[in-house]
Amino acid sequence: MIRIPASSNNKMLLSAATAASLLLPGVQAWGAMGHETVAYVATDFVAAGTCTYFQNLMADASANYLASVASWADPYGHTEAGKFSSGFHYIDAQDSPPSSCGVDFARDCGEGGCIVSAISNYTNRLLDADLDSSERQMAAKFVIHFLGDIGQPLHNENLEKGGNGIPVDYSGEETNLHHVWDSEIPESVSGGSSLTSARSWAANLTMAIKSGIYESQAAGWVSDLSLADAQNITLGWATESNAYVCSTVLEGGVSAVEDQDLGGDYTTRGQPVVSLQIAKQGYRLAKWLDAIASAV
Ligand SMILES: *[C@@H]1O[C@H](CO)[C@@H](O)[C@H](O)[C@H]1NC(C)=O
Ligand SMILES: *[C@@H]1O[C@H](CO)[C@@H](O)[C@H](O)[C@H]1NC(C)=O
Ligand SMILES: *[C@@H]1O[C@H](CO)[C@@H](O)[C@H](O)[C@H]1NC(C)=O
Ligand SMILES: [Zn+2]
Repeated sequence: MIRIPASSNNKMLLSAATAASLLLPGVQAWGAMGHETVAYVATDFVAAGTCTYFQNLMADASANYLASVASWADPYGHTEAGKFSSGFHYIDAQDSPPSSCGVDFARDCGEGGCIVSAISNYTNRLLDADLDSSERQMAAKFVIHFLGDIGQPLHNENLEKGGNGIPVDYSGEETNLHHVWDSEIPESVSGGSSLTSARSWAANLTMAIKSGIYESQAAGWVSDLSLADAQNITLGWATESNAYVCSTVLEGGVSAVEDQDLGGDYTTRGQPVVSLQIAKQGYRLAKWLDAIASAV
Protein backbone atom coordinates (compact mmCIF):
# COMPACT_ATOMS: atom_id res chain seq x y z
CA MET A 1 0.00 0.00 0.00
CA ILE A 2 2.89 2.28 -0.63
CA ARG A 3 2.15 5.77 -1.76
CA ILE A 4 4.90 7.98 -3.09
CA PRO A 5 4.04 11.60 -3.81
CA ALA A 6 4.39 12.31 -7.51
CA SER A 7 3.79 16.04 -7.57
CA SER A 8 6.73 18.42 -7.51
CA ASN A 9 5.09 20.69 -4.95
CA ASN A 10 4.78 18.01 -2.31
CA LYS A 11 5.49 19.09 1.22
CA MET A 12 7.48 16.06 2.00
CA LEU A 13 11.14 15.46 1.36
CA LEU A 14 11.95 11.82 0.99
CA SER A 15 15.52 11.06 1.86
CA ALA A 16 17.36 9.27 -0.89
CA ALA A 17 17.61 6.20 1.29
CA THR A 18 13.91 6.17 2.08
CA ALA A 19 13.00 6.72 -1.55
CA ALA A 20 15.27 3.87 -2.60
CA SER A 21 13.93 1.54 0.05
CA LEU A 22 10.37 2.24 -1.03
CA LEU A 23 11.24 1.09 -4.52
CA LEU A 24 12.78 -2.19 -3.50
CA PRO A 25 10.19 -4.96 -3.62
CA GLY A 26 11.74 -6.81 -0.71
CA VAL A 27 11.58 -3.75 1.50
CA GLN A 28 8.02 -2.68 0.81
CA ALA A 29 7.02 -5.79 2.66
CA TRP A 30 3.52 -4.80 3.91
CA GLY A 31 2.81 -3.60 0.47
CA ALA A 32 2.95 -7.27 -0.23
CA MET A 33 1.78 -8.80 3.04
CA GLY A 34 -1.34 -6.70 3.62
CA HIS A 35 -2.45 -7.04 0.01
CA GLU A 36 -1.77 -10.76 0.08
CA THR A 37 -3.88 -11.12 3.21
CA VAL A 38 -6.79 -9.32 1.56
CA ALA A 39 -6.37 -11.61 -1.45
CA TYR A 40 -6.26 -14.79 0.63
CA VAL A 41 -9.40 -13.80 2.55
CA ALA A 42 -11.08 -13.26 -0.82
CA THR A 43 -9.78 -16.63 -2.03
CA ASP A 44 -11.45 -18.25 0.98
CA PHE A 45 -14.87 -16.79 0.08
CA VAL A 46 -15.18 -16.70 -3.72
CA ALA A 47 -17.63 -19.05 -5.40
CA ALA A 48 -16.20 -22.06 -7.22
CA GLY A 49 -17.04 -20.56 -10.62
CA THR A 50 -15.26 -17.33 -9.68
CA CYS A 51 -12.15 -19.26 -8.74
CA THR A 52 -12.18 -21.07 -12.09
CA TYR A 53 -12.80 -17.86 -14.03
CA PHE A 54 -9.95 -15.93 -12.40
CA GLN A 55 -7.54 -18.87 -12.37
CA ASN A 56 -8.05 -19.04 -16.15
CA LEU A 57 -7.72 -15.29 -16.64
CA MET A 58 -4.56 -15.11 -14.52
CA ALA A 59 -3.23 -18.34 -16.08
CA ASP A 60 -2.51 -19.60 -12.57
CA ALA A 61 -4.20 -22.74 -11.29
CA SER A 62 -2.56 -22.50 -7.88
CA ALA A 63 -4.18 -21.44 -4.61
CA ASN A 64 -2.16 -18.20 -4.85
CA TYR A 65 -3.85 -16.96 -8.03
CA LEU A 66 -5.06 -13.79 -6.30
CA ALA A 67 -2.34 -13.35 -3.66
CA SER A 68 0.55 -13.59 -6.11
CA VAL A 69 -0.68 -10.59 -8.13
CA ALA A 70 -2.10 -8.57 -5.24
CA SER A 71 0.84 -6.20 -4.82
CA TRP A 72 1.91 -5.95 -8.48
CA ALA A 73 0.36 -2.48 -8.89
CA ASP A 74 2.76 -0.82 -6.41
CA PRO A 75 6.04 -1.43 -8.26
CA TYR A 76 4.21 -1.06 -11.60
CA GLY A 77 3.20 2.48 -10.64
CA HIS A 78 6.88 3.38 -10.36
CA THR A 79 7.80 2.20 -13.85
CA GLU A 80 7.76 4.44 -16.93
CA ALA A 81 4.97 2.35 -18.46
CA GLY A 82 2.93 2.34 -15.26
CA LYS A 83 3.37 5.84 -13.88
CA PHE A 84 -0.04 6.87 -15.26
CA SER A 85 -1.52 4.67 -12.52
CA SER A 86 0.42 6.00 -9.51
CA GLY A 87 -2.40 8.35 -8.50
CA PHE A 88 -4.96 5.55 -8.63
CA HIS A 89 -3.96 4.14 -5.23
CA TYR A 90 -5.66 6.79 -3.10
CA ILE A 91 -8.11 9.66 -2.88
CA ASP A 92 -6.98 12.97 -1.38
CA ALA A 93 -9.78 13.76 1.05
CA GLN A 94 -9.39 17.46 1.84
CA ASP A 95 -11.01 17.24 5.25
CA SER A 96 -9.75 18.44 8.63
CA PRO A 97 -8.83 15.55 10.89
CA PRO A 98 -9.33 14.92 13.71
CA SER A 99 -12.24 17.37 14.04
CA SER A 100 -13.87 16.66 10.69
CA CYS A 101 -13.53 13.76 8.30
CA GLY A 102 -15.23 13.10 4.98
CA VAL A 103 -14.68 12.33 1.31
CA ASP A 104 -16.23 14.37 -1.49
CA PHE A 105 -15.73 12.87 -4.93
CA ALA A 106 -15.95 16.17 -6.85
CA ARG A 107 -13.59 17.92 -4.45
CA ASP A 108 -11.13 15.12 -3.79
CA CYS A 109 -10.76 12.84 -6.79
CA GLY A 110 -8.67 15.11 -8.97
CA GLU A 111 -8.40 15.37 -12.75
CA GLY A 112 -6.01 12.48 -13.15
CA GLY A 113 -8.34 10.08 -11.36
CA CYS A 114 -8.20 8.44 -7.94
CA ILE A 115 -8.86 5.11 -6.29
CA VAL A 116 -12.63 5.53 -6.57
CA SER A 117 -12.66 6.22 -10.32
CA ALA A 118 -9.95 3.59 -10.87
CA ILE A 119 -11.94 0.77 -9.23
CA SER A 120 -14.90 1.72 -11.39
CA ASN A 121 -12.77 1.91 -14.54
CA TYR A 122 -10.99 -1.41 -14.04
CA THR A 123 -14.22 -3.14 -13.02
CA ASN A 124 -15.78 -1.96 -16.28
CA ARG A 125 -12.74 -3.11 -18.21
CA LEU A 126 -13.00 -6.58 -16.63
CA LEU A 127 -16.57 -6.72 -17.87
CA ASP A 128 -15.64 -5.58 -21.38
CA ALA A 129 -15.51 -8.63 -23.63
CA ASP A 130 -14.01 -6.52 -26.43
CA LEU A 131 -10.77 -6.09 -24.51
CA ASP A 132 -8.19 -8.78 -25.01
CA SER A 133 -7.32 -11.07 -22.15
CA SER A 134 -4.05 -9.30 -21.32
CA GLU A 135 -5.97 -6.04 -20.78
CA ARG A 136 -8.55 -7.83 -18.62
CA GLN A 137 -5.78 -9.56 -16.70
CA MET A 138 -4.22 -6.18 -15.94
CA ALA A 139 -7.63 -4.83 -14.91
CA ALA A 140 -8.00 -7.77 -12.50
CA LYS A 141 -4.63 -7.03 -10.93
CA PHE A 142 -5.65 -3.41 -10.39
CA VAL A 143 -9.03 -4.32 -8.90
CA ILE A 144 -7.47 -6.87 -6.52
CA HIS A 145 -4.92 -4.27 -5.38
CA PHE A 146 -7.15 -1.22 -5.10
CA LEU A 147 -9.81 -3.01 -3.05
CA GLY A 148 -7.01 -3.54 -0.55
CA ASP A 149 -5.63 0.00 -0.64
CA ILE A 150 -9.01 1.61 -0.08
CA GLY A 151 -9.22 -0.10 3.32
CA GLN A 152 -6.09 1.71 4.56
CA PRO A 153 -7.39 4.90 6.22
CA LEU A 154 -4.46 7.02 5.07
CA HIS A 155 -5.12 6.12 1.42
CA ASN A 156 -8.24 8.25 1.86
CA GLU A 157 -6.59 11.37 3.26
CA ASN A 158 -4.86 14.41 1.79
CA LEU A 159 -3.19 15.69 4.97
CA GLU A 160 0.61 15.53 4.65
CA LYS A 161 0.32 13.28 1.60
CA GLY A 162 -1.64 10.70 3.50
CA GLY A 163 0.69 10.90 6.49
CA ASN A 164 3.86 10.31 4.42
CA GLY A 165 4.98 13.76 5.55
CA ILE A 166 4.53 13.07 9.27
CA PRO A 167 7.79 11.72 10.71
CA VAL A 168 7.38 9.22 13.53
CA ASP A 169 9.43 6.55 15.25
CA TYR A 170 8.57 2.90 15.54
CA SER A 171 10.44 0.83 18.11
CA GLY A 172 13.37 3.21 17.80
CA GLU A 173 13.44 3.35 13.98
CA GLU A 174 12.58 6.51 12.04
CA THR A 175 9.68 6.13 9.65
CA ASN A 176 6.49 8.01 8.81
CA LEU A 177 2.86 7.71 9.83
CA HIS A 178 1.71 6.32 6.47
CA HIS A 179 4.26 3.54 6.64
CA VAL A 180 3.25 2.62 10.19
CA TRP A 181 -0.28 1.94 8.91
CA ASP A 182 0.90 0.22 5.73
CA SER A 183 3.40 -1.96 7.39
CA GLU A 184 4.32 -1.87 11.06
CA ILE A 185 0.86 -2.26 12.58
CA PRO A 186 -0.21 -5.04 10.17
CA GLU A 187 3.04 -6.92 10.76
CA SER A 188 2.57 -6.54 14.51
CA VAL A 189 -0.64 -8.54 14.07
CA SER A 190 0.45 -11.13 11.51
CA GLY A 191 3.90 -11.68 12.97
CA GLY A 192 5.85 -11.01 9.79
CA SER A 193 6.02 -9.83 6.20
CA SER A 194 6.09 -13.17 4.38
CA LEU A 195 3.48 -14.87 2.23
CA THR A 196 3.20 -17.44 5.02
CA SER A 197 2.32 -14.71 7.53
CA ALA A 198 -0.33 -13.41 5.12
CA ARG A 199 -1.79 -16.88 4.66
CA SER A 200 -2.07 -17.59 8.38
CA TRP A 201 -3.44 -14.14 9.20
CA ALA A 202 -6.02 -14.58 6.44
CA ALA A 203 -7.02 -17.97 7.87
CA ASN A 204 -7.71 -16.30 11.20
CA LEU A 205 -9.69 -13.48 9.61
CA THR A 206 -11.70 -15.97 7.54
CA MET A 207 -12.59 -17.84 10.71
CA ALA A 208 -13.58 -14.57 12.41
CA ILE A 209 -15.89 -13.78 9.48
CA LYS A 210 -17.44 -17.25 9.39
CA SER A 211 -17.94 -17.83 13.08
CA GLY A 212 -16.11 -15.22 15.14
CA ILE A 213 -16.04 -11.52 15.93
CA TYR A 214 -17.03 -10.40 12.42
CA GLU A 215 -19.80 -12.92 11.82
CA SER A 216 -22.64 -10.56 12.64
CA GLN A 217 -21.23 -7.69 10.55
CA ALA A 218 -20.05 -9.40 7.38
CA ALA A 219 -23.37 -9.37 5.51
CA GLY A 220 -23.57 -5.62 6.05
CA TRP A 221 -20.15 -5.11 4.46
CA VAL A 222 -21.52 -6.28 1.11
CA SER A 223 -25.21 -5.50 1.37
CA ASP A 224 -25.23 -2.63 -1.14
CA LEU A 225 -22.72 -4.19 -3.50
CA SER A 226 -23.54 -3.57 -7.15
CA LEU A 227 -21.24 -3.31 -10.13
CA ALA A 228 -23.67 -0.99 -11.91
CA ASP A 229 -23.06 1.53 -9.16
CA ALA A 230 -19.34 0.85 -8.74
CA GLN A 231 -18.23 4.43 -8.22
CA ASN A 232 -20.79 5.19 -5.55
CA ILE A 233 -20.21 1.93 -3.68
CA THR A 234 -16.49 2.57 -3.75
CA LEU A 235 -16.97 6.10 -2.49
CA GLY A 236 -18.87 4.61 0.45
CA TRP A 237 -15.88 2.36 1.23
CA ALA A 238 -13.52 5.36 1.01
CA THR A 239 -15.74 7.36 3.36
CA GLU A 240 -15.85 4.53 5.89
CA SER A 241 -12.08 4.07 5.77
CA ASN A 242 -11.42 7.83 5.97
CA ALA A 243 -13.51 8.04 9.17
CA TYR A 244 -10.75 6.08 10.95
CA VAL A 245 -8.36 8.96 10.27
CA CYS A 246 -10.40 11.05 12.72
CA SER A 247 -11.32 8.29 15.18
CA THR A 248 -8.01 6.45 15.43
CA VAL A 249 -5.10 7.40 13.13
CA LEU A 250 -5.02 11.10 14.08
CA GLU A 251 -7.32 10.93 17.07
CA GLY A 252 -5.07 13.30 19.04
CA GLY A 253 -4.06 15.43 16.06
CA VAL A 254 -0.72 15.52 14.26
CA SER A 255 1.14 16.72 17.34
CA ALA A 256 0.18 13.56 19.24
CA VAL A 257 2.04 11.35 16.75
CA GLU A 258 4.75 13.50 15.16
CA ASP A 259 8.21 12.42 16.34
CA GLN A 260 6.58 10.06 18.83
CA ASP A 261 7.33 6.36 19.07
CA LEU A 262 4.17 4.61 17.92
CA GLY A 263 5.25 1.08 18.83
CA GLY A 264 3.29 0.85 22.08
CA ASP A 265 -0.28 1.86 22.94
CA TYR A 266 -0.79 3.53 19.58
CA THR A 267 -0.20 0.20 17.83
CA THR A 268 -2.47 -1.61 20.27
CA ARG A 269 -5.28 0.81 19.39
CA GLY A 270 -4.56 0.52 15.68
CA GLN A 271 -4.52 -3.28 15.48
CA PRO A 272 -8.30 -3.90 15.63
CA VAL A 273 -8.87 -1.28 12.92
CA VAL A 274 -6.26 -2.83 10.65
CA SER A 275 -7.64 -6.35 11.16
CA LEU A 276 -11.20 -5.21 10.53
CA GLN A 277 -10.27 -3.28 7.39
CA ILE A 278 -8.25 -6.17 5.94
CA ALA A 279 -11.01 -8.70 6.70
CA LYS A 280 -13.69 -6.41 5.30
CA GLN A 281 -11.87 -5.63 2.08
CA GLY A 282 -11.03 -9.30 1.56
CA TYR A 283 -14.67 -10.27 1.95
CA ARG A 284 -15.76 -7.42 -0.33
CA LEU A 285 -13.19 -8.46 -2.91
CA ALA A 286 -14.64 -11.99 -2.92
CA LYS A 287 -18.16 -10.69 -3.54
CA TRP A 288 -16.92 -8.16 -6.11
CA LEU A 289 -15.11 -10.88 -8.08
CA ASP A 290 -18.19 -13.12 -7.77
CA ALA A 291 -20.31 -10.36 -9.30
CA ILE A 292 -17.82 -9.92 -12.14
CA ALA A 293 -17.56 -13.64 -12.84
CA SER A 294 -21.37 -13.91 -12.89
CA ALA A 295 -21.71 -10.98 -15.28
CA VAL A 296 -19.15 -11.94 -17.93
C1 LIG B 1 -8.90 3.30 -17.39
O1 LIG B 1 -7.90 2.32 -17.64
C2 LIG B 1 -7.12 2.54 -18.81
C3 LIG B 1 -6.19 1.34 -19.02
O2 LIG B 1 -5.25 1.23 -17.98
C4 LIG B 1 -6.36 3.84 -18.66
O3 LIG B 1 -5.63 4.10 -19.83
C5 LIG B 1 -7.34 4.98 -18.40
O4 LIG B 1 -6.61 6.16 -18.12
C6 LIG B 1 -8.23 4.65 -17.20
N1 LIG B 1 -9.26 5.67 -17.08
C7 LIG B 1 -9.60 6.18 -15.91
C8 LIG B 1 -10.67 7.22 -15.94
O5 LIG B 1 -9.11 5.84 -14.85
C1 LIG C 1 -4.13 -16.88 14.56
O1 LIG C 1 -4.90 -17.24 15.69
C2 LIG C 1 -4.21 -18.02 16.63
C3 LIG C 1 -5.22 -18.49 17.67
O2 LIG C 1 -5.91 -17.39 18.21
C4 LIG C 1 -3.07 -17.20 17.21
O3 LIG C 1 -2.34 -17.95 18.12
C5 LIG C 1 -2.15 -16.76 16.08
O4 LIG C 1 -1.16 -15.89 16.57
C6 LIG C 1 -2.93 -16.05 15.00
N1 LIG C 1 -2.04 -15.82 13.87
C7 LIG C 1 -2.10 -14.73 13.10
C8 LIG C 1 -1.08 -14.65 12.02
O5 LIG C 1 -2.93 -13.86 13.25
C1 LIG D 1 -24.80 5.92 -3.20
O1 LIG D 1 -24.44 5.14 -2.07
C2 LIG D 1 -25.08 5.51 -0.89
C3 LIG D 1 -24.51 4.63 0.22
O2 LIG D 1 -23.13 4.67 0.23
C4 LIG D 1 -26.58 5.36 -1.05
O3 LIG D 1 -27.23 5.80 0.12
C5 LIG D 1 -27.05 6.18 -2.25
O4 LIG D 1 -28.41 5.92 -2.49
C6 LIG D 1 -26.27 5.81 -3.48
N1 LIG D 1 -26.62 6.67 -4.59
C7 LIG D 1 -26.97 6.19 -5.77
C8 LIG D 1 -27.23 7.21 -6.84
O5 LIG D 1 -27.04 5.00 -6.01
ZN1 LIG E 1 -1.12 0.62 -3.65
